Amino acid sequence: MTSTLTQVYPIIWESDRASLIDQTRLPDEYTRIEITTYQQMAEAIKTMIVRGAPAIGIAAAYGLYLGAREIQTSDRQEFLNQLEPIAQVLRATRPTAVNLFWAIDQMLQTATETPGTIEEIKTALLHKANTIREDDIKTCFAIGEAGLIVLPKIPEKLNILTHCNTGSLATGGYGTALGVIRSAWNSGRLNRVYADETRPRLQGAKLTTWECVQDQIPVTLISDNMAAHCMKQGLIHAVIVGADRITANGDAANKIGTYSLAIVAKAHNVPFFVAAPLSTVDFKLATGDEIPIEERDPTELYQVGTTRICPEGVEFFNPAFDVTPAELITAIITEKGAVIPGELKQFSVI
Ligand code: MRU
Repeated sequence: MTSTLTQVYPIIWESDRASLIDQTRLPDEYTRIEITTYQQMAEAIKTMIVRGAPAIGIAAAYGLYLGAREIQTSDRQEFLNQLEPIAQVLRATRPTAVNLFWAIDQMLQTATETPGTIEEIKTALLHKANTIREDDIKTCFAIGEAGLIVLPKIPEKLNILTHCNTGSLATGGYGTALGVIRSAWNSGRLNRVYADETRPRLQGAKLTTWECVQDQIPVTLISDNMAAHCMKQGLIHAVIVGADRITANGDAANKIGTYSLAIVAKAHNVPFFVAAPLSTVDFKLATGDEIPIEERDPTELYQVGTTRICPEGVEFFNPAFDVTPAELITAIITEKGAVIPGELKQFSVI
Protein backbone atom coordinates (compact mmCIF):
# COMPACT_ATOMS: atom_id res chain seq x y z
CA MET A 1 0.00 0.00 0.00
CA THR A 2 1.35 3.43 -0.88
CA SER A 3 1.92 5.69 2.09
CA THR A 4 -0.01 8.95 2.14
CA LEU A 5 1.81 10.04 5.29
CA THR A 6 3.23 13.55 5.39
CA GLN A 7 6.16 14.66 7.52
CA VAL A 8 5.52 17.22 10.22
CA TYR A 9 8.43 18.25 12.42
CA PRO A 10 7.52 20.44 15.40
CA ILE A 11 11.15 21.26 16.25
CA ILE A 12 13.87 21.90 13.68
CA TRP A 13 17.38 23.25 14.21
CA GLU A 14 18.38 25.53 11.33
CA SER A 15 20.43 28.69 10.80
CA ASP A 16 21.77 28.53 14.35
CA ARG A 17 18.35 28.62 15.98
CA ALA A 18 15.43 26.38 16.88
CA SER A 19 12.30 26.67 14.81
CA LEU A 20 9.03 25.55 16.44
CA ILE A 21 5.58 25.02 14.96
CA ASP A 22 3.33 27.28 17.04
CA GLN A 23 0.86 24.64 18.24
CA THR A 24 -1.36 27.24 19.93
CA ARG A 25 -2.38 28.54 16.49
CA LEU A 26 -3.27 25.23 14.84
CA PRO A 27 -5.48 24.32 13.07
CA ASP A 28 -6.27 27.87 11.94
CA GLU A 29 -2.70 28.84 11.07
CA TYR A 30 0.49 26.88 10.45
CA THR A 31 3.29 29.19 11.60
CA ARG A 32 6.82 28.65 12.90
CA ILE A 33 8.47 30.61 15.69
CA GLU A 34 12.23 31.14 15.88
CA ILE A 35 13.85 30.57 19.25
CA THR A 36 17.30 31.98 19.95
CA THR A 37 17.55 32.01 23.76
CA TYR A 38 16.89 29.50 26.53
CA GLN A 39 14.42 31.93 28.14
CA GLN A 40 12.35 31.98 24.94
CA MET A 41 12.45 28.17 24.86
CA ALA A 42 11.29 27.95 28.49
CA GLU A 43 8.41 30.30 27.70
CA ALA A 44 7.47 28.28 24.58
CA ILE A 45 7.27 25.10 26.68
CA LYS A 46 5.25 26.79 29.45
CA THR A 47 2.75 28.35 27.07
CA MET A 48 2.50 25.13 25.06
CA ILE A 49 3.73 26.52 21.76
CA VAL A 50 5.57 23.22 21.93
CA ARG A 51 3.92 20.39 23.90
CA GLY A 52 3.73 16.62 24.24
CA ALA A 53 6.17 14.70 26.43
CA PRO A 54 8.91 13.75 23.90
CA ALA A 55 8.67 17.13 22.12
CA ILE A 56 9.21 19.14 25.29
CA GLY A 57 12.22 16.95 26.08
CA ILE A 58 13.72 17.78 22.67
CA ALA A 59 12.84 21.46 23.08
CA ALA A 60 14.50 21.55 26.51
CA ALA A 61 17.65 19.93 25.07
CA TYR A 62 17.94 22.71 22.46
CA GLY A 63 17.07 25.22 25.21
CA LEU A 64 20.01 24.01 27.26
CA TYR A 65 22.34 24.38 24.28
CA LEU A 66 21.01 27.90 23.60
CA GLY A 67 21.83 28.81 27.20
CA ALA A 68 25.22 27.08 27.09
CA ARG A 69 26.38 28.93 23.99
CA GLU A 70 25.92 32.26 25.77
CA ILE A 71 28.22 31.34 28.67
CA GLN A 72 31.43 33.37 28.45
CA THR A 73 34.21 31.59 30.31
CA SER A 74 37.19 29.42 29.50
CA ASP A 75 37.08 27.73 32.90
CA ARG A 76 35.48 24.28 32.71
CA GLN A 77 34.10 24.19 36.25
CA GLU A 78 32.72 27.71 35.93
CA PHE A 79 31.01 26.68 32.67
CA LEU A 80 29.39 23.65 34.33
CA ASN A 81 28.31 25.80 37.30
CA GLN A 82 26.63 28.29 34.98
CA LEU A 83 24.74 25.51 33.16
CA GLU A 84 22.86 24.52 36.31
CA PRO A 85 20.63 27.64 36.68
CA ILE A 86 19.80 27.38 32.95
CA ALA A 87 18.77 23.75 33.49
CA GLN A 88 16.70 24.88 36.47
CA VAL A 89 14.74 27.43 34.40
CA LEU A 90 13.95 24.72 31.84
CA ARG A 91 13.04 22.15 34.52
CA ALA A 92 10.57 24.61 36.08
CA THR A 93 8.44 24.85 32.92
CA ARG A 94 6.23 21.76 33.24
CA PRO A 95 6.37 19.17 36.03
CA THR A 96 4.67 15.99 34.82
CA ALA A 97 6.39 14.73 31.64
CA VAL A 98 9.59 13.03 32.73
CA ASN A 99 11.06 13.31 29.21
CA LEU A 100 11.82 16.95 29.98
CA PHE A 101 13.97 16.02 32.99
CA TRP A 102 15.46 13.04 31.16
CA ALA A 103 16.61 15.20 28.23
CA ILE A 104 18.10 17.87 30.51
CA ASP A 105 20.00 15.16 32.44
CA GLN A 106 21.31 13.73 29.16
CA MET A 107 22.57 17.17 28.16
CA LEU A 108 24.22 17.83 31.53
CA GLN A 109 25.89 14.44 31.41
CA THR A 110 27.24 15.25 27.93
CA ALA A 111 28.66 18.54 29.24
CA THR A 112 30.32 16.80 32.17
CA GLU A 113 31.76 13.92 30.14
CA THR A 114 33.02 15.81 27.07
CA PRO A 115 36.76 16.45 27.30
CA GLY A 116 38.45 19.47 25.72
CA THR A 117 37.74 23.16 25.47
CA ILE A 118 34.51 25.00 26.28
CA GLU A 119 33.91 25.42 22.53
CA GLU A 120 34.21 21.66 22.10
CA ILE A 121 31.70 21.09 24.92
CA LYS A 122 29.27 23.55 23.29
CA THR A 123 29.61 21.69 19.97
CA ALA A 124 28.99 18.38 21.75
CA LEU A 125 25.84 19.82 23.35
CA LEU A 126 24.35 20.83 20.01
CA HIS A 127 25.24 17.42 18.62
CA LYS A 128 23.52 15.76 21.61
CA ALA A 129 20.32 17.81 21.18
CA ASN A 130 20.23 16.83 17.48
CA THR A 131 20.75 13.20 18.46
CA ILE A 132 17.93 13.28 21.04
CA ARG A 133 15.62 14.61 18.32
CA GLU A 134 16.71 12.13 15.65
CA ASP A 135 16.59 9.18 18.05
CA ASP A 136 13.07 10.14 19.08
CA ILE A 137 11.86 9.96 15.48
CA LYS A 138 13.44 6.49 15.07
CA THR A 139 11.94 5.44 18.40
CA CYS A 140 8.47 6.50 17.24
CA PHE A 141 8.78 4.33 14.11
CA ALA A 142 9.82 1.37 16.30
CA ILE A 143 6.83 1.97 18.61
CA GLY A 144 4.60 1.99 15.52
CA GLU A 145 5.97 -1.39 14.44
CA ALA A 146 5.68 -2.87 17.95
CA GLY A 147 2.09 -1.67 18.14
CA LEU A 148 1.11 -3.57 15.00
CA ILE A 149 2.02 -6.85 16.71
CA VAL A 150 -0.37 -6.38 19.65
CA LEU A 151 -3.34 -4.71 17.98
CA PRO A 152 -6.44 -6.95 17.88
CA LYS A 153 -6.51 -9.12 14.75
CA ILE A 154 -10.30 -8.96 14.49
CA PRO A 155 -11.79 -7.12 12.75
CA GLU A 156 -9.26 -6.81 9.97
CA LYS A 157 -9.65 -3.02 9.88
CA LEU A 158 -9.88 -1.39 13.28
CA ASN A 159 -11.57 1.66 14.69
CA ILE A 160 -9.12 3.11 17.21
CA LEU A 161 -9.98 5.72 19.81
CA THR A 162 -7.26 8.08 21.01
CA HIS A 163 -7.02 10.95 23.47
CA CYS A 164 -5.10 14.24 23.36
CA ASN A 165 -2.37 14.56 20.71
CA THR A 166 0.45 12.04 20.57
CA GLY A 167 1.47 12.53 16.96
CA SER A 168 4.26 14.21 15.04
CA LEU A 169 3.49 17.43 16.89
CA ALA A 170 4.05 15.80 20.29
CA THR A 171 7.35 14.10 19.38
CA GLY A 172 10.37 14.60 17.12
CA GLY A 173 8.04 13.39 14.35
CA TYR A 174 5.59 10.52 13.57
CA GLY A 175 4.23 10.08 17.09
CA THR A 176 3.74 7.44 19.78
CA ALA A 177 0.06 6.41 20.07
CA LEU A 178 -0.70 8.27 16.86
CA GLY A 179 2.46 6.66 15.44
CA VAL A 180 0.90 3.21 16.04
CA ILE A 181 -2.26 4.50 14.38
CA ARG A 182 -0.18 5.79 11.41
CA SER A 183 1.54 2.41 11.10
CA ALA A 184 -1.85 0.66 11.25
CA TRP A 185 -3.14 2.94 8.50
CA ASN A 186 -0.06 2.39 6.39
CA SER A 187 -0.37 -1.38 6.64
CA GLY A 188 -4.09 -1.48 5.88
CA ARG A 189 -5.12 -2.32 9.46
CA LEU A 190 -7.03 0.87 10.26
CA ASN A 191 -10.57 1.74 9.34
CA ARG A 192 -10.90 5.02 11.26
CA VAL A 193 -9.60 7.05 14.17
CA TYR A 194 -11.97 8.35 16.81
CA ALA A 195 -10.40 11.44 18.35
CA ASP A 196 -11.51 12.65 21.77
CA GLU A 197 -11.71 16.44 21.72
CA THR A 198 -9.69 16.50 25.00
CA ARG A 199 -11.02 19.28 27.19
CA PRO A 200 -9.92 21.79 28.29
CA ARG A 201 -7.21 22.62 25.73
CA LEU A 202 -8.69 20.56 22.92
CA GLN A 203 -5.48 18.95 21.68
CA GLY A 204 -7.57 16.12 20.17
CA ALA A 205 -9.90 18.44 18.29
CA LYS A 206 -7.26 20.92 17.21
CA LEU A 207 -4.11 18.86 16.70
CA THR A 208 -4.93 15.15 16.28
CA THR A 209 -7.64 15.78 13.71
CA TRP A 210 -5.28 18.23 11.94
CA GLU A 211 -2.58 15.56 11.69
CA CYS A 212 -5.08 12.96 10.46
CA VAL A 213 -6.39 15.33 7.81
CA GLN A 214 -2.80 16.05 6.68
CA ASP A 215 -2.27 12.30 6.23
CA GLN A 216 -5.75 11.62 4.82
CA ILE A 217 -6.46 9.21 7.68
CA PRO A 218 -10.24 8.93 8.23
CA VAL A 219 -11.03 10.62 11.55
CA THR A 220 -14.19 11.20 13.57
CA LEU A 221 -14.16 13.81 16.32
CA ILE A 222 -16.13 13.04 19.48
CA SER A 223 -16.40 14.95 22.73
CA ASP A 224 -14.78 13.31 25.76
CA ASN A 225 -18.10 12.26 27.27
CA MET A 226 -19.09 10.23 24.18
CA ALA A 227 -16.51 7.44 24.57
CA ALA A 228 -18.71 5.12 26.67
CA HIS A 229 -21.60 5.45 24.25
CA CYS A 230 -19.34 4.73 21.26
CA MET A 231 -17.95 1.63 22.97
CA LYS A 232 -21.44 0.40 23.90
CA GLN A 233 -22.41 0.77 20.25
CA GLY A 234 -19.44 -1.44 19.29
CA LEU A 235 -17.77 1.37 17.37
CA ILE A 236 -14.37 1.11 19.09
CA HIS A 237 -12.05 -1.91 18.78
CA ALA A 238 -9.05 -0.54 20.70
CA VAL A 239 -7.95 2.55 22.62
CA ILE A 240 -4.36 3.82 22.26
CA VAL A 241 -3.05 6.75 24.28
CA GLY A 242 0.38 8.21 25.04
CA ALA A 243 1.97 8.91 28.40
CA ASP A 244 3.84 11.70 30.16
CA ARG A 245 5.34 9.54 32.88
CA ILE A 246 5.08 5.80 33.57
CA THR A 247 6.21 4.45 36.92
CA ALA A 248 8.06 1.20 37.68
CA ASN A 249 4.79 -0.67 38.38
CA GLY A 250 3.26 0.39 35.03
CA ASP A 251 0.93 3.18 36.24
CA ALA A 252 0.76 5.84 33.52
CA ALA A 253 0.17 9.59 33.77
CA ASN A 254 -1.36 11.09 30.66
CA LYS A 255 -3.69 13.91 29.64
CA ILE A 256 -6.61 14.46 32.00
CA GLY A 257 -9.47 12.19 30.98
CA THR A 258 -7.26 9.20 30.14
CA TYR A 259 -8.12 7.46 33.43
CA SER A 260 -11.88 7.62 32.86
CA LEU A 261 -11.33 6.38 29.31
CA ALA A 262 -9.44 3.35 30.68
CA ILE A 263 -12.29 2.56 33.10
CA VAL A 264 -14.83 2.82 30.31
CA ALA A 265 -12.67 0.59 28.06
CA LYS A 266 -12.43 -2.04 30.82
CA ALA A 267 -16.22 -1.95 31.31
CA HIS A 268 -16.72 -2.67 27.61
CA ASN A 269 -13.92 -5.20 27.18
CA VAL A 270 -12.04 -2.94 24.78
CA PRO A 271 -8.21 -3.30 24.92
CA PHE A 272 -6.48 -0.21 26.29
CA PHE A 273 -2.89 0.42 25.14
CA VAL A 274 -0.34 2.99 26.28
CA ALA A 275 2.36 3.80 23.69
CA ALA A 276 5.49 5.58 24.90
CA PRO A 277 9.26 5.61 24.53
CA LEU A 278 11.32 4.18 27.39
CA SER A 279 12.45 7.75 28.15
CA THR A 280 8.90 8.24 29.49
CA VAL A 281 9.40 5.53 32.11
CA ASP A 282 10.55 6.86 35.48
CA PHE A 283 11.93 3.76 37.18
CA LYS A 284 12.80 5.87 40.24
CA LEU A 285 9.11 6.16 41.10
CA ALA A 286 7.39 3.03 42.41
CA THR A 287 3.78 3.99 41.67
CA GLY A 288 1.72 6.67 39.98
CA ASP A 289 0.87 8.26 43.35
CA GLU A 290 4.36 9.80 43.29
CA ILE A 291 3.93 11.56 39.93
CA PRO A 292 3.68 15.36 40.21
CA ILE A 293 0.49 16.47 38.47
CA GLU A 294 0.58 19.87 36.80
CA GLU A 295 -2.26 22.29 37.56
CA ARG A 296 -2.76 24.91 34.87
CA ASP A 297 -4.31 28.32 34.69
CA PRO A 298 -8.11 28.12 35.20
CA THR A 299 -8.77 30.34 32.18
CA GLU A 300 -8.22 27.15 30.14
CA LEU A 301 -11.30 25.78 31.86
CA TYR A 302 -13.70 28.71 32.11
CA GLN A 303 -12.94 30.34 28.77
CA VAL A 304 -13.68 28.93 25.35
CA GLY A 305 -11.81 31.16 22.92
CA THR A 306 -12.41 34.56 24.46
CA THR A 307 -15.88 33.68 25.83
CA ARG A 308 -16.37 33.01 29.54
CA ILE A 309 -18.64 29.97 29.99
CA CYS A 310 -19.57 30.26 33.68
CA PRO A 311 -20.58 33.04 36.07
CA GLU A 312 -18.25 34.93 38.42
CA GLY A 313 -17.94 33.41 41.90
CA VAL A 314 -17.15 29.85 40.75
CA GLU A 315 -14.00 28.06 41.97
CA PHE A 316 -11.83 26.01 39.62
CA PHE A 317 -9.69 22.89 39.58
CA ASN A 318 -7.62 22.34 36.44
CA PRO A 319 -5.27 19.33 36.72
CA ALA A 320 -3.64 18.75 33.32
CA PHE A 321 -2.98 15.02 33.81
CA ASP A 322 -4.35 11.96 35.60
CA VAL A 323 -2.88 8.57 36.40
CA THR A 324 -4.24 5.34 34.92
CA PRO A 325 -3.52 2.37 37.20
CA ALA A 326 -1.49 -0.45 35.65
CA GLU A 327 -4.33 -2.96 36.07
CA LEU A 328 -6.43 -1.07 33.51
CA ILE A 329 -3.67 -1.17 30.86
CA THR A 330 -3.66 -4.12 28.43
CA ALA A 331 -0.07 -3.47 27.28
CA ILE A 332 2.56 -0.74 27.18
CA ILE A 333 4.00 -0.36 23.68
CA THR A 334 7.64 0.75 23.69
CA GLU A 335 10.39 0.89 21.06
CA LYS A 336 11.70 -2.41 22.47
CA GLY A 337 8.36 -4.16 22.14
CA ALA A 338 5.00 -4.31 23.88
CA VAL A 339 4.75 -5.68 27.42
CA ILE A 340 2.12 -6.03 30.10
CA PRO A 341 2.72 -3.31 32.74
CA GLY A 342 4.12 -5.82 35.25
CA GLU A 343 6.91 -6.72 32.82
CA LEU A 344 8.11 -3.17 32.27
CA LYS A 345 10.91 -3.59 34.81
CA GLN A 346 12.87 -5.76 32.34
CA PHE A 347 13.76 -2.50 30.52
CA SER A 348 15.19 -0.85 33.63
CA VAL A 349 18.92 -0.18 33.46
CA ILE A 350 19.17 0.72 37.16
O1 MRU B 1 -0.41 19.00 27.97
P1 MRU B 1 0.15 18.32 26.76
O2 MRU B 1 -0.54 18.67 25.49
O3 MRU B 1 1.66 18.47 26.68
O4 MRU B 1 -0.14 16.79 27.04
C1 MRU B 1 0.24 15.83 26.10
C2 MRU B 1 -0.16 14.46 26.46
O5 MRU B 1 -0.77 14.21 27.48
C3 MRU B 1 0.29 13.35 25.55
O6 MRU B 1 -0.64 12.32 25.53
C4 MRU B 1 1.64 12.82 26.06
O7 MRU B 1 2.53 13.87 26.26
C5 MRU B 1 2.23 11.84 25.13
S1 MRU B 1 2.79 12.63 23.65
C6 MRU B 1 3.55 11.49 22.66
